[in-house]
Amino acid sequence: MRLSRYFLPVLKEAPSDAQIASHQLMLRAGMIRQEAAGIYAWLPLGLRVLNKIEQIVREEMDRAGAIELLMPTLQLADLWRESGRYDAYGPEMLRITDRHERELLYGPTNEEMVTEIFRGSVRSYKDLPKNLYHVQWKFRDERRPRFGVMRGREFLMKDAYSFDLDAEGARKSYNRMFVAYLNLFSRMGLKAVPMRADTGPIGGDLSHEFIVLAETGESAVFCHKDLVEMAAPGPDVEWYGDLQPLVDQRTALYAATEEMHDEAAFDAIPEGDRLSARGIEVGHIFSFGTKYSEPMKALVMGPDGKEVPVQMGSYGVGVSRLLGAIIEASHDDGGIIWPESVAPYHVGIVNMRQGDAACDAACDEAYKALQAAGVDVLYDDTDARGGAKFATMDLIGLPWQLIVGPKGVAEGVVELKNRKTGERVSEPLDAVLARLTGKAA
Ligand SMILES: Nc1ncnc2c1ncn2[C@@H]1O[C@H](COP(=O)(O)OP(=O)(O)O)[C@@H](O)[C@H]1O
Ligand SMILES: [Mg+2]
Repeated sequence: MRLSRYFLPVLKEAPSDAQIASHQLMLRAGMIRQEAAGIYAWLPLGLRVLNKIEQIVREEMDRAGAIELLMPTLQLADLWRESGRYDAYGPEMLRITDRHERELLYGPTNEEMVTEIFRGSVRSYKDLPKNLYHVQWKFRDERRPRFGVMRGREFLMKDAYSFDLDAEGARKSYNRMFVAYLNLFSRMGLKAVPMRADTGPIGGDLSHEFIVLAETGESAVFCHKDLVEMAAPGPDVEWYGDLQPLVDQRTALYAATEEMHDEAAFDAIPEGDRLSARGIEVGHIFSFGTKYSEPMKALVMGPDGKEVPVQMGSYGVGVSRLLGAIIEASHDDGGIIWPESVAPYHVGIVNMRQGDAACDAACDEAYKALQAAGVDVLYDDTDARGGAKFATMDLIGLPWQLIVGPKGVAEGVVELKNRKTGERVSEPLDAVLARLTGKAA
């Protein structure tokens, strides 16, 4: 993409109501624009990151055996009356009436709908286990929408729902999601710690929140230090084998959110290993048995010929919130530092003297070569000053900057800067392109 043809409305200064770094940087980098309290338009640069995060989530869900579908944003109130949640949900639910005076709502979550879909076609234990998920916009009329995409009213969530015949099967489904979550957050460069959590309005008895530690986090959390550095299991696990040891390895160490905090258990950890911090909830998994299947009559036939309500769990990831969490974890005074896996573009080309024949030619060559090699590249071909171009590149946080200036070009070299380390090398263009495309020069 050529910047001169792109839409990247960067701001010199963040609006004063943006309180935390990620919110300020997303606004300044032209990634989002507020359209109403807690409701954002995703501008082109922000959308690219959102799509990359969504894709990682999707790949890890698929790997763990979940199946993607797409449920609508609008739901019938009557469906929620079946579970008893229509009245229980309160003012966070956006209630809508259509032209036929039919009551609808903008879905804050999808337990009822997916249960309805399931009961419409699954009858036998032979069809289990199943895990259905979608990535869909949610609306919750939060009392205090704040911190940009962190606590929005409209936000993108991945929500998965598992169905099993019995508690043992449900536990295995829960463990699959537990392990998939460790992997998916790790692929985004995040250290997300699973912590015992309250089940809240979803209900049920087994629940973990996945928390990224950050000073600006909304939750107070308490855990054993070792959990933060524990590596993710990686993709090569036996997804339908015994995942319990992987889960136990983590749940054996103390980790709890404020609501579930047990002071005595925490104090039993050696003092040097105690971590009392703040965190951002990026995922939340629940196992809730028959809470919905029983009132909604989602029954399956067991091998003994008896019908029982299906055992369920639900598993959410805050896809849009993750942009904020990643930026909180990875930025400096100059701006965002994207991990390669979610960066909107891999390389930014900075033409220090647009209009200079030699600089333009070198930039064009680099731009074409990178595109041909399938590398996502943003070419700053505007006539802004070099200093302003550097500031924009640092702000938007692409992992690599390829800098082409008249002096270097005359000597036959360009510069390659790593955004994260700040390291720069001066090399012939061929060598730099080889580095960026992973090919030998
Ligand atoms: N208002 C919001 N804005 C952005 N992301 C949200 C919001 N509410 C929830 N999420 C994300 O969706 C995930 C699943 O939501 P859930 O646990 O049901 O919500 P809550 O924790 O608010 O009860 C959360 O872990 C979080 O990452
Ligand atoms: Mg939650």
